[in-house]
Amino acid sequence: MKRRGFVSGSAALAAATLATPAIVRSAFAAASVKPIGWDITPPTDSRENFIAWGRTRGEDPVFLGERWDRFQALVKNKDIWSPATIRAFLLTPREEFAAVNPAIHKRAYEHNFLDIGYGVTMSGPHLQGRMTNVLDIQRTDKVLEIGTGSGCQSGYIANLTENSYTIEIIKPLADRTRGVYDKAIEKGYTEFQHIHTKQADGYYGWEEAAPFDKIIVTCGIDHVPPPLLQQLKSGGVMVIPVGPPGAQRVIKIAKTQGADGSITTSREDIYGGKIVPFVPFTKLEGDKIVGSHNR
Ligand SMILES: C[S@@+](CC[C@H](N)C(=O)[O-])C[C@H]1O[C@@H](n2cnc3c(N)ncnc32)[C@H](O)[C@@H]1O
Repeated sequence: MKRRGFVSGSAALAAATLATPAIVRSAFAAASVKPIGWDITPPTDSRENFIAWGRTRGEDPVFLGERWDRFQALVKNKDIWSPATIRAFLLTPREEFAAVNPAIHKRAYEHNFLDIGYGVTMSGPHLQGRMTNVLDIQRTDKVLEIGTGSGCQSGYIANLTENSYTIEIIKPLADRTRGVYDKAIEKGYTEFQHIHTKQADGYYGWEEAAPFDKIIVTCGIDHVPPPLLQQLKSGGVMVIPVGPPGAQRVIKIAKTQGADGSITTSREDIYGGKIVPFVPFTKLEGDKIVGSHNR
């Protein structure tokens, strides 16, 4: 895909710093950002240094400050801890994904799930952070996400590996989020080029791309879909909300293969038993969404 040439955001920055906060945000919404390579890590020593670094890149200083503050809260709450996940959080612009709904755009870094239309939500940063960090994604890992939604979760994954796959069941939402990635790539967030997107029923996984080192499920179901477990590599890890409607627990499943070839799985609740409600894991019949996959 062709990307527009990089244009420094400094002119917009100079104009915007003199303007009201509302104008600062809109001036930066149109600006380009400098693409970031795997060798670059943003400063984590102070808020000021992080914002100064991000401003040089061409990002909005207001959102940068909010990203920093949320990062601090995530670390304090033990939702993220590994340097790779921290880097991914600091590089991923939640505001680009929240921009689809003007009512939530400025709330992108709140400790909340947010309404993105179509009856579904963008998960909150603490939950996304913890589920991502538990997966311990390595640079070479192939990762599958079920439930693209806003696209934000796969944005984090794209800052951890170049092999990410995401499936969304709602066709107009899948199309809209594809557009969000394309716009962001054109703006300079070139890491999103590596996200493979598809509109389908994620219950059946992504057979042609399997097996996966890691699988993240972002919709709730009362059992672990057998096709997903099958498409998880031996030695792989899945995080999935399992339980009755509106009352799931977020489970980490590790799959291992014994010397005799037998497959075993171990399960751990990543919230120590706390209920975390998710939107339902729905079912496609033909091209219509009909009910859920709950048994
Ligand atoms: C909590 S929301 C989105 C979270 C998302 N990861 C994000 O970062 O915004 C869960 C998503 O799962 C999708 N979904 C539900 N059932 C699905 C299925 N069978 N296959 C694929 N996606 C599904 C919903 O449409 C919704 O967009």
